[in-house]
Amino acid sequence: MRGLFVTFEGIDRSGKTTQARLLLDALGDAAVGVREPGGTAAGERVRALLKDPAVELSPAGEALLFAAARAELVAQVIEPALAAGRVVVSDRFLDSSLAYQGEARGLGVAEVERVNAFATGGLTPDLTLLLDLDPATAGGRGAVEDDRFEQEGRALQEQVAAAYERLVAAAPGRWRRIAADRPPEEVHADVLAAVEAARRAPAGEEA
Ligand code: TYD
Repeated sequence: MRGLFVTFEGIDRSGKTTQARLLLDALGDAAVGVREPGGTAAGERVRALLKDPAVELSPAGEALLFAAARAELVAQVIEPALAAGRVVVSDRFLDSSLAYQGEARGLGVAEVERVNAFATGGLTPDLTLLLDLDPATAGGRGAVEDDRFEQEGRALQEQVAAAYERLVAAAPGRWRRIAADRPPEEVHADVLAAVEAARRAPAGEEA
């Protein structure tokens, strides 16, 4: 039986990485965790390039690099794990490109979707968890601003948050919105409940 593909989305500092780790701990051997961009030898090098504020990139170049890292991750890790029946948990996926590059960078969601369909063979998550957090609250979480996206500040995060709203509205069956302004264990309980419900649902009926 094919596995389940679960992705986390949200603005920077919404707690995706913590929640992905808690979910992986709860699922144990049934699950495989990946992060984007990265997760393969080529993908980690592309990640370093994308995050380096000293490297100038055009919006199109940036989108293509994210898509290239994603192509490697899908081919080398995600598809084989799904074929083996595992739950794949990804810290960001396609929707991040639609929100950041498609909307916030102004490339257009349809354009970015097309490039990514080529990169991934059209792979779509079975379940996407939106960690819902107000950009002002996220900004107050106070981590160091160490990459090109975080340095662009609040305006970018507001645009990304609005973009996620439109993506949820366009495909409500695939998304679960989870309030992220709560202690991590409370957020995790809702995450786990959503994933368990999707695992029980017959394929294609996760909604
Ligand atoms: P990362 O350190 O993974 O941030 P976070 O912990 O917030 O996920 O850095 C990834 C940055 O890249 C983040 O600011 C979001 C951005 N990004 C895109 O713009 N497009 C994409 O397709 C992906 C996967 C990430």
